[in-house]
Amino acid sequence: TLEDNIKMLEQYIEYFPDFPKPGILYKDVLSVLSHSDGLKLLEVILKQISIKLRGKVDCIAMLETRGFIFAPILSLHLNVPCIPVSKKGNLPGPVIEFPYILEYGEDILTLQLNSITKGQKIFIVDDFLATGGTLEAATRLIEKAGGEVVQGLVLMEKLELEGRKRLNFPVISLLSE
Ligand code: PRP
Repeated sequence: TLEDNIKMLEQYIEYFPDFPKPGILYKDVLSVLSHSDGLKLLEVILKQISIKLRGKVDCIAMLETRGFIFAPILSLHLNVPCIPVSKKGNLPGPVIEFPYILEYGEDILTLQLNSITKGQKIFIVDDFLATGGTLEAATRLIEKAGGEVVQGLVLMEKLELEGRKRLNFPVISLLSE
């Protein structure tokens, strides 16, 4: 089942103490990819999730940087396009911007103009949900472009920060801490 597969996925996550700062235990979601069995298992999981979401989303918005790695797998199974949400300066051509405030300063998220059509149902994908600030800002940006975020997915969620409370759509998290 999906639940069994998600449990098995945990073994592929590597833990790094004191990264990026002393006292922080870093859980590396990319380590799933450094085992070919890990990637195969993740693909099976994302396929199982896609089956449930088929027909319910028109487009996937993938968040830079690590959302870019996982979203295309979902895109293949859902048969919908994948569009990038990036930090300012990283996307070519005209963009729509949304400035937001993070724990450690300000940033600007961008979306290429016309990458979303008005009324599209958007599935937002990132690697990690912590405070929810990034997903919330991406949601506002997508709304500014005329899209509606209907579903989210992250590989890892930091439960104690309750980031999902800031979001008005369901979020699937494969793993939590
Ligand atoms: C990390 C992570 C999420 C965000 C989650 O990105 O990839 O995008 O933080 O945190 P939040 O829920 O508190 O907003 P980061 O800003 O480190 O950028 P990166 O993905 O480019 O490394």
